[in-house]
Amino acid sequence: MNADAESQCPVTALSDTFRLSNAELESVFRRARSESPVSWLPDIGFWAVTTFDDIKTVLGDKERFSAEITLEPLNPLYPEVLQFLKERNFSPRPTLSNNERDDHTRIRKNVQIAFSPKRNKKLEPYIRQLVNDAIDRFESDKKADLVRQMVYELPALVLFKLLGIPEGDVQKIKMWADSRLILSFGKPSLEDQLIAAGHLADYWDYCLDHVQQRIESPQDDLPSDLLAVRAGDDSILTIEDINNVVFGLLLAGHETTTNMSGNAILSLLENRDSWESIVANPDLIPNTVEECLRYRSSVVAWRRLAKTDVQLSGVDITAGSRILCFLPSGNRDETKIENGEAFDIHRADARNHISFGFGRHFCLGAPLARFELILLLEELARRLPGLRLVEDQSLMPVEAVQFRGPKELWVEWD
Ligand code: HEM
Repeated sequence: MNADAESQCPVTALSDTFRLSNAELESVFRRARSESPVSWLPDIGFWAVTTFDDIKTVLGDKERFSAEITLEPLNPLYPEVLQFLKERNFSPRPTLSNNERDDHTRIRKNVQIAFSPKRNKKLEPYIRQLVNDAIDRFESDKKADLVRQMVYELPALVLFKLLGIPEGDVQKIKMWADSRLILSFGKPSLEDQLIAAGHLADYWDYCLDHVQQRIESPQDDLPSDLLAVRAGDDSILTIEDINNVVFGLLLAGHETTTNMSGNAILSLLENRDSWESIVANPDLIPNTVEECLRYRSSVVAWRRLAKTDVQLSGVDITAGSRILCFLPSGNRDETKIENGEAFDIHRADARNHISFGFGRHFCLGAPLARFELILLLEELARRLPGLRLVEDQSLMPVEAVQFRGPKELWVEWD
C-alpha cells in the first residue's frame, strides 16, 4: 500500500479516490467503515457515507435526501462557459437521475415500457457479434489490451444501436460523451471546459435532430419506441422528455459499463480459478456477473443532498449538505456481507449489492448492463479460455472522481 494512503486519515483519501489502487481504495473503505463511517471531506465539501445501511437510507429516502445534485459538475463551470452554453441554446432539464420533481415517476414508468427486456434481447446478436469481431481482430496477436481493443467501445456501440445512431456518427459522439464526463466529474481548466461545452452543445443539438427524424420516420430503435409509447399524448411523455432521455442515456449507459467490464475481467483473472470455473461451466456466468458488480463496482460514489437536518451513524448532518455514498464500501460492509473481501462467484446472495443504487432512482439500465456483461463473459470464455493477466502491469485507473475502472487491461493467451 502507498504510504500516503496508509498514514492519512481514512476519509481524506476519499476526496480523490481515483488516485488510489483497488487495494488501497478497499483498505481506506475498511478503515472508514470501522473508524469513521460518516465523515466530512473538507477538500470537496461532501459528507462521505460508507456503510450499507446508511447508503440505502440516503439513496432510498426521498423525503430527507434529494438526487438533484447528481449530475452537477463537481467543479463549478466558469461564467464564460455558462454564457457560451446559453448562447448555444443548450437547455436539457432534469429528467431521470437528477429529477426530483413529481414527473420523475411518470417519465420513468413510461420510459421503462420502451426500454424493455424485449428491446434488450433484440440486441443480443449484435452484442455477440461485436465481441467476436474484436476477438477476431486481435486473436492471432496472443496478447491484447482488452480495454482499448474491446470494452472501451463496446457499450457505446450497444447504446448507439439502441438509440438508432448511425455507425458513421459513432466516433464523434463518443468524443462528445468523453467531454461530458470531463465537465461533470473531472477537473478541467477554463480552456478545456470551453472545448467540452462546445461538444456538449453539439450533442444536445444532435439529440434534438435525431428525435425529430424519428418523429418523421420511425425506425426499429428506442427513440421510436418512446414516441410510440407517447402516442402523441403529452400526459404520457412530452417530446422534451424524449429529447432529454436520449441525451441522458449517453452518459449513463456506457462509461459505467466500460469500466464495469474492465473490473469484471480483472477480478476474474486475478482469481483465476473462478475464470476456469466459468470456462468449464458458463451457467455460472449470471451469478458471476453479480459478484463482479458487488466486488468491484465501477460507480465508486453517488451523490445526494440532505433536504432536512439528519443523523447518520450518530453524526449530525445539516440540511443543504452534500453527500457522497461510497457504493463499493457498502458492498463489502462486514455487518451485512459475510466474508465480503473475498471474491466468490458461488456466493448465494451476490445480487444483494448496491452497485446500481437503490430506491426510485435505481439504475434504469441495470437489465441491459447485466445482459451485456453476461454476453461479454460468455463469448470471452468460449473463444479465449486460456486468458490470463499479463504480469507486472501498472493497472492505471481512469481519472474520474466517482468512477473506477482500469485504463488499460493487458491479457495474453497461448
Ligand atoms: C454496470 C453498469 C452500470 C452501473 C454500475 C450503473 C450504476 C448506476 C447508479 C449507481 C445509478 C444511480 C442510482 C441511484 O441514484 O440510486 C444509476 C442510474 C441510472 N442508470 Fe445506470 N449504471 C450502469 C449502466 C447503465 C446503462 C447501460 C444504462 C442505460 C442504457 C443506465 C441508465 C441509468 C439511468 C437512466 C439512471 C437514472 C434512473 C433514474 O433516476 O430513474 N445505466 N446507474
